[in-house]
Amino acid sequence: MDAPVKPAPACLPANSKTAPPSTLVIFGAGGDLTKRLLIPAIYNLVNDKALDDHFQIIGVDLVANDDQGFRDHLTENMKALVAGGHGEFASPELDQQAWSWLMSRVFYLPGDFSNPDTFTRLKYLVDEREQETGCGNAVFYLAVAPRFFGPIVEQLGQAGLLAETEAHFRRVVVEKPFGTDLASAKALNQQILKVADEHQIFRIDHYLGKETVQNIMVLRFANGFFEPVWNRDHIDHVQITAAETVGVEQRGKFYDATGALRDMVPNHMFQLLAMIAMEPPNSFDADAVRSEKAKAIEAIRNYTPEEAVKNAVRAQYRAGTVLGKPVNNYRDEPNVSPTSMTETYVAMKFMIDNWRWAGVPFYVRTGKALAVRRTEIGIQFKRAPHVLFRSIGISELAPNMMVFRIQPNEGVSLRFAAKKPGREVELRDVRMDFRYADYFQAEPSTGYETLIYDCLTGDATLFQRADNIEAGWTEVQPLLDGWSANDAPLEFYDAGSDGPAAADALLARDGFKWLPLT
Ligand code: BG6
Repeated sequence: MDAPVKPAPACLPANSKTAPPSTLVIFGAGGDLTKRLLIPAIYNLVNDKALDDHFQIIGVDLVANDDQGFRDHLTENMKALVAGGHGEFASPELDQQAWSWLMSRVFYLPGDFSNPDTFTRLKYLVDEREQETGCGNAVFYLAVAPRFFGPIVEQLGQAGLLAETEAHFRRVVVEKPFGTDLASAKALNQQILKVADEHQIFRIDHYLGKETVQNIMVLRFANGFFEPVWNRDHIDHVQITAAETVGVEQRGKFYDATGALRDMVPNHMFQLLAMIAMEPPNSFDADAVRSEKAKAIEAIRNYTPEEAVKNAVRAQYRAGTVLGKPVNNYRDEPNVSPTSMTETYVAMKFMIDNWRWAGVPFYVRTGKALAVRRTEIGIQFKRAPHVLFRSIGISELAPNMMVFRIQPNEGVSLRFAAKKPGREVELRDVRMDFRYADYFQAEPSTGYETLIYDCLTGDATLFQRADNIEAGWTEVQPLLDGWSANDAPLEFYDAGSDGPAAADALLARDGFKWLPLT
């Protein structure tokens, strides 16, 4: 039987590199995400000729403004970003032609997200566009506080803005955090899926926009030598680190109610874990990839709250010095409670109970105000038998270690033993290093370019399906429950350190050590 035929994406441009003409509606147009990441990413897409002539942006926000005022605000901000030279832009000056092209396609709609009138006016603009250009594709990007996610999608549905036809698609991009626990994530999925179909929802995890994260799949599945050793017979343990030097900065209100576990683990850390642990998908089709990732997360052992607490460490930073600058006690940061028990660091051990990984611990750690900024995945292989080297006084050989460096200094390194030149046999650990920068000219990127482009072209591979999100929350819920019982110790670490000693003890218990941060 033939596969069901999906409606052809409307108004496909002749050049497949160019995304179909669409209206990108950004809710939260005046917010930080829009100016810091979305507009710069769209500007990079313009430079890359990835957008159609009929592309346009409608920014929606509560603040009174008009088209020109909004454009001026974006221009001022972009000039500052480009001059700041953060590596995301090809040149230290704004490309006037590209920027003018973009600005002539930017419009502003002032409106309250909870007022149906905003959506009626929005529909008028989207319909008007469809009449003018013959194309009614629209993507609604929710760059807003999480409490607005559900209500905005409902209003879009009620206004008829989510109705797709053979001639046009309608998609919604939902930012993180998607829920604050399992129950709220499920409730949000239900609320959204009442008015939109799963294929219309693009749940963002910006880690999936990172080249090096996508590359894990390529390294694993495009090379013959990884898969034979990628299992419990050869791998001792896996450790995943996302260390940040930033503290909570101006995000105290959000962060104090959230903490490191919710902020990083069910989303970013599990994306990394899934990339390492998933089975090869049958194809790179979005659903094939997402199903394998969901299976890997679902195979994580379900702890009881007591077990979860025993297999985790929570900690908070105290005053210290990070990269030469003094940092306050977390409890003294703006908008943080002086008696806060919120963790700014979490380490946890997971077991994946499937055929490939049974018995191989996966440790994750993430924290703020640490000594260095580093995201990496270490794969420690089982040690070779040392019997041959006993005669030269070696009682145990160092294990081989493969490290995926996600950021910064993107690359992969392999640690193994070699003979130190000389008449005696002496072993030394050496490193073989692949650095992206040595082979590839980095494209200017904020990490959001791929995600926005994929959404415009309808490729959902790098977005989270409802079950991916719920699987992540299912695994951390016992720890949330265990901690809320309030008898789990909160450890402390100095800002600018490697984290709490208890996190070292978590691995030492199993005979392992974290890769050093400094
Ligand atoms: C965000 C978290 O999702 O990811 C932040 O809310 C965190 O707290 C950030 O700093 C880390 O992202 P990146 O790309 O800097 O590793």
